[in-house]
Amino acid sequence: MTKKTGNKVTRDWFRGWSNEYDRTLGRLKFHRNLLDMMVKNSAVKSNDKVLDIGCGTGLLSLKFLKASNCFITAVDNSKEMMAVFEDKIRRLGIDKQVVCKLMDADSLKFQDNTFDVVASSVTLHHLKEKLSVLKKIRGILKPGGSLIIGDVDMDSTGSHADINRFKRIIRVLEQEWISALKDGGVNAFVKMFDNGKKHILNQGEYCISLKQWADVCKKAGFHKIIIKRIPRYKCFGIVVARKEAV
Ligand SMILES: C[S@@+](CC[C@H](N)C(=O)[O-])C[C@H]1O[C@@H](n2cnc3c(N)ncnc32)[C@H](O)[C@@H]1O
Repeated sequence: MTKKTGNKVTRDWFRGWSNEYDRTLGRLKFHRNLLDMMVKNSAVKSNDKVLDIGCGTGLLSLKFLKASNCFITAVDNSKEMMAVFEDKIRRLGIDKQVVCKLMDADSLKFQDNTFDVVASSVTLHHLKEKLSVLKKIRGILKPGGSLIIGDVDMDSTGSHADINRFKRIIRVLEQEWISALKDGGVNAFVKMFDNGKKHILNQGEYCISLKQWADVCKKAGFHKIIIKRIPRYKCFGIVVARKEAV
């Protein structure tokens, strides 16, 4: 599958999900805990400039704003997901603190040394080619700035016919599906179950483990890289990586 096709599959998927997103994944405890853990470990401060890549309906950005008087630039390549967030921004009257831009994560158009924090939750796994994006993120971070990736700890690389790969993915998806049924009910389960097939077939989903993310961060030139998993949902977690201070 070409990168372009992968992007189209993903955009179509989120176009259909946008109006249900907050009532499905948005209700699940592991997702909320993941976003809280990201904000807590970002060391975000008042007046910091934060970039949220794959902001979707704004769940992560809103948590950053609750924690600190920061300024958010939120990017996503789905206009339908972003429209849900823009509606919240209008209703909450926070347009001075959040700017939304329709932009693809693999062609970020910002000047070097712009952001104090770059954060991305359950988004970067949609990109097949990860190293070039992390190098670009390192460039647009200010010296001493932090990258926080929150994602599922799931290595879905390898051949589709490899049964061990399949079992590895299924073990993680089982946890996700149990949580979806418990916290979100049948609708959330159905959505996460359908998404599972996309993971298994790599249809716009190219997950790697948190350890593999840490290795890509290192290759991209980051340092002080740490991995943390959510205590009750260990197949989700974060990677925090710093850009060297000058
Ligand atoms: C699972 S949602 C996560 C949304 C939000 N970060 C959250 O944690 O709730 C993934 C988001 O990434 C966006 N996305 C996927 N691929 C992208 C890409 N290549 N560039 C920009 N956004 C992308 C989707 O449109 C979607 O809004």
